Amino acid sequence: MVTSHRPWAEPYRIKMVELLRVTTREDRESALREAGWNTFLLRSDMVAIDLLTDSGTNAMSDRQWSAMMLGDEAYAGSASYYRLEAAIKRRYGYAHVVPTHQGRGAEHLLSHMLVKQGDVVPGNMYFTTTRAHQELAGGRFEDVVIDEAHDPSSEHPFKGNVDLAKLERLIERVGARRIPYVCVAATVNMAGGQPISLENLRAVRALTKRHGISVYLDATRAMENAFFIVEREPGQGHRTLADVLHEMCSLSDGCTMSAKKDLLVNIGGFLALNDATLADEARNLGVLFEGLHTYGGLAGRDLEAMAVGIEEALDPAHMRARIGQVRYVADALAASGVPIVKPTGGHAVFLDARAFLPHLSQDAFPAQALAAELYLEGSVRSMERGIVSAGRDPDSGEHRRPRLELVRLTFPRRVYTQAHCDVVVDTVQRVLARAPQIRGLRMVHEPRHLRFFQARFAPL
Ligand code: F0G
Repeated sequence: MVTSHRPWAEPYRIKMVELLRVTTREDRESALREAGWNTFLLRSDMVAIDLLTDSGTNAMSDRQWSAMMLGDEAYAGSASYYRLEAAIKRRYGYAHVVPTHQGRGAEHLLSHMLVKQGDVVPGNMYFTTTRAHQELAGGRFEDVVIDEAHDPSSEHPFKGNVDLAKLERLIERVGARRIPYVCVAATVNMAGGQPISLENLRAVRALTKRHGISVYLDATRAMENAFFIVEREPGQGHRTLADVLHEMCSLSDGCTMSAKKDLLVNIGGFLALNDATLADEARNLGVLFEGLHTYGGLAGRDLEAMAVGIEEALDPAHMRARIGQVRYVADALAASGVPIVKPTGGHAVFLDARAFLPHLSQDAFPAQALAAELYLEGSVRSMERGIVSAGRDPDSGEHRRPRLELVRLTFPRRVYTQAHCDVVVDTVQRVLARAPQIRGLRMVHEPRHLRFFQARFAPL
């Protein structure tokens, strides 16, 4: 804590700044038209407050920048790799580490090795790239998250929990042989950054063990998940983040990791595993898809920044300020009647677009339209997490229709000030005031893979 009178304040001061461009509404109208009403296609220099994602958008510390100067750029056997490997083994506890260029690189390796044609991969709600790689490998994703996760108004403290009965029924229905592993995300991004409890994770481990099924953790925001466990889970309040993280990992056989989130860097990821044979195969496949197993598509300096980031992210003052900032915005929005997903998760505030724009049907892409309006109003960039992100069912070709139709305001770590947060709140309130006038969109271009990134729209 920086002072004793407040629950949190930023545990750092600013040494370098990046200037923002001030735009007019006309500038933003033409930028949005050029971007096909898709915030992913906006040029970032036309955005003032960029809450598109917390991925790779973090501010690194002076220590991370100086560690980068120590990067060993050797093609093979880089000293930086060994420093990173030691840090991951110490904090995550897995036996083997294969660096990858980012999270989806690790997902690709894992799915490629374990998922066979016709397999089913259960998970606590899908994530876009994770499911795409499972499907690419011939598998099918099956959602086994608790029902509360799909209800934006449920105040369940661990909406990321696996529904053990759903999982058990699935195992009975398809048979353990068709289930290569259970994919457990901590936290669950698409549900609003919601955590899974330690108790639930232990139960998933026990259940799958009885059936001989492995568990792989999506550890992308596992440190944020650990924060919620310490804060909310009975009997866990005395523990450190590091201690809880270590136990979470010990309840799995390995993890995929996008270091671009928790680990306070701009690029990087890894696959970590305990099985030596599988690790050998992953290192070998890594050569094909990522790069030699001691660099994984990254520069040596990136490996150094990750190693330092692991320790900084586990500092309780960091995590209090990180989650505290997200809550500050969420609480201000909720207090003024903006419909948001509750409780507030770790990395973002999710606006409930169905409740925000009740006059629009899901076919008019309400969350996509709301994201566009937030940009027009206040140069705030957000992201659609609804029907566009959900994509089409590979069998029927129909839109998948998620119950959650959300807009995500995602907070990069250590980047924006409290005044920026006030601008965000003000922007959302202004859009809410004119919500009944907002029209929906139609999709005029639809890419085949992960369509939300590159789809184009036009107003109805
Ligand atoms: N898993 C989770 C839970 C994620 O949130 C992400 C990325 C990935 C895996 C894939 O990692 O991007 O490094 O390849 N999420 C970003 C986001 C893109 O904006 O939520 P990646």
